Amino acid sequence: MAVRTIQWKNNRVVMLDQRLLPAKEIYRVYREYSQVAQAIRDMVIRGAPAIGVAAAMGVALGALWVKGKNFDREIERVFANLGKTRPTAVNLFWALERMRKVYSEHRGEGIETVKRLLKEEAVKIYDEDISTNRQLGKIGARLLGNASRVLTHCNAGALATAGYGTALGVIRAMKEAGKNVEVFVNETRPFLQGARLTAWELKKDKIPVTLLTDSMVGYLMQKDKVDAVVVGCDRVAANGDIANKIGTYGIAVLAQRHHVPFYVAAPTSSIDLKCPSGAEIPIEQRNPREVSHIFNRPIAPRGVRVLNPAFDITHHDLVSAIITEGGVITPPLQQNLRSHVHHQ
Ligand code: MRU
Repeated sequence: MAVRTIQWKNNRVVMLDQRLLPAKEIYRVYREYSQVAQAIRDMVIRGAPAIGVAAAMGVALGALWVKGKNFDREIERVFANLGKTRPTAVNLFWALERMRKVYSEHRGEGIETVKRLLKEEAVKIYDEDISTNRQLGKIGARLLGNASRVLTHCNAGALATAGYGTALGVIRAMKEAGKNVEVFVNETRPFLQGARLTAWELKKDKIPVTLLTDSMVGYLMQKDKVDAVVVGCDRVAANGDIANKIGTYGIAVLAQRHHVPFYVAAPTSSIDLKCPSGAEIPIEQRNPREVSHIFNRPIAPRGVRVLNPAFDITHHDLVSAIITEGGVITPPLQQNLRSHVHHQ
């Protein structure tokens, strides 16, 4: 695979430092779980499924270093710290829950067994994520039919997952199916995941890509240049509201106005039936400096008040369908999400 977002290697976690892309491809090697937690917070790795994989590997790493008699207490600390890294993407909590289940079910079998099983579970979560995305991609490519001009936001690609991607997985599968596909990507202020990461990934794969600023979507749709929007997501609430990168909501409103289908590509692990609606999804507020500065240079007067919510909520009635590895979920989302999850 061309992009190695995260790997478990010789009892270390190796991550491509996404903060430096596209200028530099630098890999970080972590041996402590606290370094993995910091890497998630600092956006060395980001994107909902990738955060989940990183957290799972963080637990496995944390367990490796715990000494015998304090195992229960120490492992709880590992879970608690990793659980506090980023609040919005439910995949983080989903992955931690899977790791906790392994721990709880096997804790009586001796520390060495638990350590081995945690490591195996983390690698399994990684492997499953890639196959999930490939399956999701195929289903999405079929759904998109003859659409060829696709707009996306942020990065829901190989970099945001263990590999292949969700929204970009759909686009990759379209290409693999021999379709003509052309991508418009928003730069995605303030962290520039679209410009730095999505444009980089697509260029690497030789998929035609055009970069725009976030404010150009209305212009593009007025000109009838977009056949479909496909975005990833950080959490799907039980009623079908979705949280995704800040700016997604505005795109969905424009898509509805211009009769452009708005698709959300999300693995089933992003569906949170315990969360009734978007109003209950915690929205991460990030450092104001991400908005007031670009690459450490100020772009606004010193001390100006800044807003920096990292995600927004798109109401379910703006969502045309949710593409998962288990099939396409269409409205009424509330009802269909529930039966989808129960059939998985
Ligand atoms: O802040 P980020 O970069 O972690 O936000 C990422 C997104 O919003 C993605 O669209 C989402 O996580 C889906 S990734 C397959």
